[in-house]
Amino acid sequence: MGKKLICRMVLMGMAVVSVCGIGAWAQTNYDESKVPKYTLPDALVCADGTKVDSAKVWTEKRRPEILALFEKYVYGKAPGRAAATKYEIEEDDDALDGRAVRKQVAITLSNNGKSLRLDLLVYLPAGRSGATPVFVGLNFGGNHSIHADPGIWLSSSWMRSSSKLPGVVDHRATEAARGKSSGRWPIENILQRGYGVATMYYGDIDPDFDDGFQNGIHPLFYKPGQSAPAADEWGSIAAWAWGLSRAMDYFETDADIDSRHVGVMGHSRLGKTSLWAGAVDQRFAMVISNDSGCGGAALSRRAFGETVKRINTSFPHWFCDNFVQFNDNEDKCPVDQHMLIALIAPRPVYVASAEKDRWADQRGEFLSAKHAGSVYRLLGAGSLDAEDMPAIDQAVIGTISYHIRTGGHDVTEYDWQRYMDAADRSFGKK
Ligand code: GCU
Repeated sequence: MGKKLICRMVLMGMAVVSVCGIGAWAQTNYDESKVPKYTLPDALVCADGTKVDSAKVWTEKRRPEILALFEKYVYGKAPGRAAATKYEIEEDDDALDGRAVRKQVAITLSNNGKSLRLDLLVYLPAGRSGATPVFVGLNFGGNHSIHADPGIWLSSSWMRSSSKLPGVVDHRATEAARGKSSGRWPIENILQRGYGVATMYYGDIDPDFDDGFQNGIHPLFYKPGQSAPAADEWGSIAAWAWGLSRAMDYFETDADIDSRHVGVMGHSRLGKTSLWAGAVDQRFAMVISNDSGCGGAALSRRAFGETVKRINTSFPHWFCDNFVQFNDNEDKCPVDQHMLIALIAPRPVYVASAEKDRWADQRGEFLSAKHAGSVYRLLGAGSLDAEDMPAIDQAVIGTISYHIRTGGHDVTEYDWQRYMDAADRSFGKK
């Protein structure tokens, strides 16, 4: 709480400074020649200096060590499952003009006398027999925003403002919000390739504003007398990732879903989230980061585009309070983001950038994927098959995949098609 207060005061101080005309932030660096010299922590050297030369040392010693460092200093540690979980399922076998089975699951989580409801939406291709591999990702605007299908429950949760989310009035969705982000969710095309899609509204898990963690999932887990997470406990990104694990809990109970072939996908802040979800929860068989940038795939030490200080100041609730120590001080952090990707090894991971998305530091995203390769190779899993960044729209697909596509910060049909190419390869489909 103390550190959060400092953040807010800094923010206010900055606002005053900018009124005085001195400028609110250090200039954002977009110049490759001004990237500071840095040395990345070695994923294959333990804190006590032991060299990691076998899968056993990685799995038993170094991986848990790196995971604990990310929990302590970056995202914060999340609790286990809630004491009680209830699923209420509605199913329509004739959705999307007969092309899909639609399931909606109201997941009620109860802990310490409090409860929270998360709504999970699942589409599966119609007429498939057996368990279907699925992509799961959180959405920004409520489940109803991903498709115009009138059968999707209209979310009644708090939403960001209408400038970000068309059809939202006074922070609540209206009928006009249906399908407004369907461009990012090409459902029919995904179903056509034999995959299911599942999604939940991230704000059901923790509304995306800094209220000192009084709403959302955090209060269900406070110890007696606790009113905010400790400096090494979960911020919002860790909470959103925790929510993805609750979707996975459900998949394990649904015979129509192949829970051993679930790819977790996210865009931007939700790409940071999918990476962390995949690191923490090894049930996710594939992890996809779409334009995740700072605190996601991009190397923090490059300080290119968005920096650690900038993100901690703009979004003080996303990371744990300990992460503030690395504002303008990235070199002191015992981890960098290539180690986050290494935590996903040997499972397939896909890092994607967009040509105009300099804020997310495309080269930093590529380099993380590249540097995670040492761990993948140690585990015999293959790594990223590219010496340098590939050309625009030339995806490199392997155990570690990467592309940079034409256009800006978004999720497009091109992105999804490549993710499905990678899933076909890894999930054994031709
Ligand atoms: C902001 C933020 C990014 C984040 C993005 C998003 O631009 O600075 O870190 O990825 O929002 O989530 O849309």
